Amino acid sequence: MKQSYQAIFNPGSIGRLTAKNRLVLPAIVHNYADNAGHATPRYLAHIERIARGGVGTIILEASFVRQEGKGFLHQLGIHDDGVIPGLRALAESAHRHGALIGIQLFHGGRQASTRTSGLTPVAPSAIPDPVVNELPHELTLADISEIIAAFAAAAQRAKMAGLDFVELHGAHGYLIAQFLSSFSNRRQDAYGGTPEKRRRFLEEVYAAVRDAVGADFPITVRLSGVENVPDGLTIEQTAATAQKLEQLGAAALHISCGNYATYAQGTMIPPMAIGDGVLVPLAERIKKSVRIPVIAVGKIRTPAMALEVLEQGKADFIALGRSLLADPDWPIKVAAGELADVRHCIACNQGCISRLFAQETVLCTINPETGREAEFAGLHGGNGRKVLVVGGGPAGMAAARWGALAGFDVSLHEARSVLGGQLIAAAAAPHREGWESLREYLVHELSRLGVKVHLDSAMDAAGVARANPWAVIVASGAEPLRPEIPGWKGMPVAAGRDILEGSAAHQGHVVVAGGGCSGAQTAEYLASVGHEVTVIEAEGDIAIDAPVDERALMLARLQQHGVKLMPNTRLINATAGGVVVASPHETRTLPADMVVMCLGAKSVNEFARTSEAPHLRSRVVGDAVLPRKVTEAVAEGAFAILDLLGVKLSPVVLQELQSGAPGN
Ligand SMILES: Cc1cc2nc3c(=O)[nH]c(=O)nc-3n(C[C@H](O)[C@H](O)[C@H](O)COP(=O)(O)O)c2cc1C
Ligand code: SF4
Repeated sequence: MKQSYQAIFNPGSIGRLTAKNRLVLPAIVHNYADNAGHATPRYLAHIERIARGGVGTIILEASFVRQEGKGFLHQLGIHDDGVIPGLRALAESAHRHGALIGIQLFHGGRQASTRTSGLTPVAPSAIPDPVVNELPHELTLADISEIIAAFAAAAQRAKMAGLDFVELHGAHGYLIAQFLSSFSNRRQDAYGGTPEKRRRFLEEVYAAVRDAVGADFPITVRLSGVENVPDGLTIEQTAATAQKLEQLGAAALHISCGNYATYAQGTMIPPMAIGDGVLVPLAERIKKSVRIPVIAVGKIRTPAMALEVLEQGKADFIALGRSLLADPDWPIKVAAGELADVRHCIACNQGCISRLFAQETVLCTINPETGREAEFAGLHGGNGRKVLVVGGGPAGMAAARWGALAGFDVSLHEARSVLGGQLIAAAAAPHREGWESLREYLVHELSRLGVKVHLDSAMDAAGVARANPWAVIVASGAEPLRPEIPGWKGMPVAAGRDILEGSAAHQGHVVVAGGGCSGAQTAEYLASVGHEVTVIEAEGDIAIDAPVDERALMLARLQQHGVKLMPNTRLINATAGGVVVASPHETRTLPADMVVMCLGAKSVNEFARTSEAPHLRSRVVGDAVLPRKVTEAVAEGAFAILDLLGVKLSPVVLQELQSGAPGN
């Protein structure tokens, strides 16, 4: 191990337990459980894979303690004894690799809904959560006692299943946090009215759980340092709660941030546009108030930052959430000094949390193996057979990387002089540098794995025939739609992608036609280099295909730049110096010096059709099939390799692959 990262790999204490290192997988709902909340083989394979990568401590996802508190359709449950065998198997899978494993005990309160649980949500006060927007039932004293008993029973199940500890989910605006915060708790009885009374529910849950598990079983608690909402939790209030929990005997505290109402601010699960380590100051502040260990979380992606937080005493443990979805081997690679090989999470929030909020399974845009560990166990047997990949965008590079890992002899032909395809334009927009880091990672991998990359090498069917590969993977991508508009004379027009790649000039007042995510990003780029910009969009809102937090942050930046947004508006025509647009109320001319088209893309698949020779194994992947997101492109590239190897996919994985939503 590189000596300089030693502090990350020193053992650490959580109550009476010793973790082998300072790295923690925080709770992450995966939506892999069955309808009853039981762990599935997919869940087991995923947790075992993460344990194999060397993390010291695993916290299983927020697991509902009672049905009305279930917040996600396929969340893990700990609400009845039927869950115990699955939890036992999960415990064993972590222990096989020397990791500690606990589970997060969860009740969603008013952030659960009839849709997720089938029951009316409950809350300290009958006030709907502003995002979920469902009126909850206000808990009676008898209801409160029953829920406290459910937490205790859940903790007992965790102990019976052989888990090492439990974490109470007191953060993110769920039931315990709803009691703690006057944003959601307006009670005037024993459970509300003063900070001490608002804390009472947490203290009673803690005491009941302690009674259930005995004196030495570690209980940790996750808290939101602040909620950033009027009447929400402040860091002083959380510090007081932390001190109380220390007095009660909590083994560690885990400091996160926010609730659903403030999720879009981008601090709870920080997206690309928010800096690394943004929540560390909250953990640091709590650490100054207590002597028990503190776990820091929130886009701590690099070993350098993890080390700094530990060495400067800002926290005792580092939670790596999305970093372990993106690369479960982060710990062992860093321990071995293989820093360049770490596939760092790019905080795109596309494959993981955006899918979860859509009640889909959690995947990872840049790691197609996440949640498909069983399938990828079959990634071998290429035996040096020649695979030719046409196209060096994300789908083609993924096919080449996973093809080389499987043992194929892979050549990749890219028509341009650079690898990356649409990642190049994507990375050029402000705050989108994560896409460049993905591009660089894939370039690094192709070189490390010996893929023969041919740039400036357009391929056609005759070229493939000459190369005579065993299989060809067509990843020729998509090109921007450039609609011909009759009668447009003298109005310069360019595609958004060409603007971002620097291959088209831009001038004066720009009208961006198409206000999806890519149009909004192109508008931001143009505004950031000094243009006056108007975005027109036929649908009722701008950037609705962007992750919710990225969207909120981007709309705020567009506003700061003075970009004019015109939803419900269509482009009709262009005249000298202006464009004619129509909204439901009027048709008018807007001044414009050029139009930038962001109206989507169409597949480039001529080559695919001509290469379907019967003797050649041919697979078409990514945007060449249908323009969609990077998540689908990378997955299809890698899965084409599994398909060539004859790996059978589980029905759920097959269905996921077939349901990739169209987009751009
Ligand atoms: C898909 C997904 C599911 C999550 N589920 C939970 C959860 O069950 N409980 C919880 O406290 N936090 C949950 N979180 C938040 C993470 O535990 C973590 O705090 C957050 O991702 C920030 O850390 P990171 O930047 O290392 O990913 C979830 C995050 C993601 C991306
Ligand atoms: S989908 Fe994006 S944000 Fe989520 S873990 Fe993967 S790289 Fe990170």
